[in-house]
Amino acid sequence: MTLDETRLPVGEMSTAVDDFLAASPAARAWDVETAFDWSAADAGLLTEGQRSAVRFITLIEDHLPGYFDVYHRNFPVDDTVAPELFVHNRELYHFTVRWALEEDTHARALARYQTAAGIAEPAPLREELAIEGRKHFDLPYEHPVQFFAYALVQEKATQMYYQQLRDVVGDPVLASVLTRLSRDEARHFTFFADVVTRYLRVHGDAAVGPIRDVVANFRMPLADTMRGYWRWALRIADVADYDHTAAYEHLLKVIDRAVDTPTDRVDELLDFIAQCRAVR
Ligand SMILES: [Fe+2]
Ligand SMILES: [Fe+2]
Repeated sequence: MTLDETRLPVGEMSTAVDDFLAASPAARAWDVETAFDWSAADAGLLTEGQRSAVRFITLIEDHLPGYFDVYHRNFPVDDTVAPELFVHNRELYHFTVRWALEEDTHARALARYQTAAGIAEPAPLREELAIEGRKHFDLPYEHPVQFFAYALVQEKATQMYYQQLRDVVGDPVLASVLTRLSRDEARHFTFFADVVTRYLRVHGDAAVGPIRDVVANFRMPLADTMRGYWRWALRIADVADYDHTAAYEHLLKVIDRAVDTPTDRVDELLDFIAQCRAVR
């Protein structure tokens, strides 16, 4: 089977992208400049752990160039792919470029919060972000559904973390930033869930093994490259629950709804994901 045959038919991808864009009208977009009262931001209202969590999620969001590049490498929109594949990738690009704009806005909002609230000065913050930002990010997948299954879990985990953090932080400005971010992540999750659903309906069991591999080897972004990631991740999990396996329950639901009559392979996948959730 060629890579081309493992992809979603272009009509399916196109509908998923259209639905995402219909759910994301420009009228409901927000921007860093006007959405928040930056003059009221005050890190003095946060605990040390909450300030640390803000620095952590700023680093994660700020790695957007690396995440965006994964799509260019794996879904090229140039003459390295045949015309039929280009058409598929070009449709996906309508999503990717909008998603990237929103994620870049998240990075700017968090960096702006840090400087407005007194957590960091602009120049040292830029230098700090550059240390991780320069590092290569890769998702070593072979089946296209894997990129979407990975993003499904990651977006849901991020959404859940932002909501939980929002509920405990002492600064209302940070709470409103986290509200905006979590709503965007929820919309991103919906797109990836839609695409994974379509893969399961079109490709059936052929998509099951690749999804299983994603869960078996799942790491949050930058877990393998960021200095002190695990110690830091454990620490911010004390501030608000950052257990990404909680997002697996949403993947379970997506698979359950996508497949009307589960095959043995689907049943085995559902059991496997449930176990990954339970052992943590
Ligand atoms: Fe984000
Ligand atoms: Fe997102």
